[in-house]
Amino acid sequence: MNLNSFAHSDEPSPRRSDAPWVETVASGPTAVPTLRDAEVHVWYLRLGSDLPGLTGRGCCRDWLDEEEASRAERYRHPQAREAFVRTRAYLRWLLGQYLEMAPNAIRFTLNRHGKPRLAESQEDRGLVFNVSHSGHLALLGFARDSPLGLDVEQLRPRRQLEPLADYCFSAAERKRWRKLAPEQRLAAFVRYWTVKEAFCKATGRGITLGLKNVSVAADFQGFDSVPEGLGVADAWSLHTWDIGDYRCALVSRNPAATIIHFPVEP
Ligand SMILES: CC(C)(COP(=O)(O)OP(=O)(O)OC[C@H]1O[C@@H](n2cnc3c(N)ncnc32)[C@H](O)[C@@H]1OP(=O)(O)O)[C@@H](O)C(=O)NCCC(=O)NCCS
Repeated sequence: MNLNSFAHSDEPSPRRSDAPWVETVASGPTAVPTLRDAEVHVWYLRLGSDLPGLTGRGCCRDWLDEEEASRAERYRHPQAREAFVRTRAYLRWLLGQYLEMAPNAIRFTLNRHGKPRLAESQEDRGLVFNVSHSGHLALLGFARDSPLGLDVEQLRPRRQLEPLADYCFSAAERKRWRKLAPEQRLAAFVRYWTVKEAFCKATGRGITLGLKNVSVAADFQGFDSVPEGLGVADAWSLHTWDIGDYRCALVSRNPAATIIHFPVEP
């Protein structure tokens, strides 16, 4: 996967490594370094291949708790079930590395909108995480003491973009999007979508937040407005990038954070 494929002249330009978000591409993904206060770690998991670093470590189904196991059983599609199991197993392994615990000892709770977080007894120095998957890729993000949201979406043909744009874009976003040539709209739509989802996921309120109330800046360097009660728009940082035909977005409430990527091997 190519982490450097940022150039899409027909789309709003994604933010790259301008300060204060200094991006470092680490060579990972086998060693898990210390997560410092001002860092966000983003791990990539290629679904359908071996879990990096986990061969021969008793992975994976045995690590899941009862609720996760029964959720896995409810997936009708074997591929979706496998994706869920592998992503959860990798999440547990990575959390275990950060917390120095066995993967099957990790305990989760959900907020009332379904956002998983560590059970109170295991919140070690405010460790937070967020997960997103699409197609054959999952992203797993980790930070300390600051809300974090991640979203990844694979570009694929979609019909009926207009009504969806009316449903989730702010007036300014809709105006900008409609000015694009028809062949540019799909990629731009997915870019907006991932940013809005990542914002909703950072707040932990999912789409109940009201997608129209989150308005991304024209240069994708941050937000023009956020819903009431969530502070000033500048308090939220936005980082966007591409991996092949996947569009990725990360939203954090730590504007000074450094993002460190741990990509999968190509
Ligand atoms: C559930 C939701 C948070 C994200 O869903 P999604 O984009 O389909 O799925 P993703 O793969 O990005 O994220 C799923 C992960 O987010 C986490 N998650 C679940 N609820 C969450 C919430 N309220 N806040 C943050 N993270 C949440 C979980 O870890 C979940 O992983 P799991 O299924 O393995 O448990 C929510 O935003 C949603 O329902 N979206 C529907 C899509 C939509 O209408 N989008 C419009 C955008 S313009």
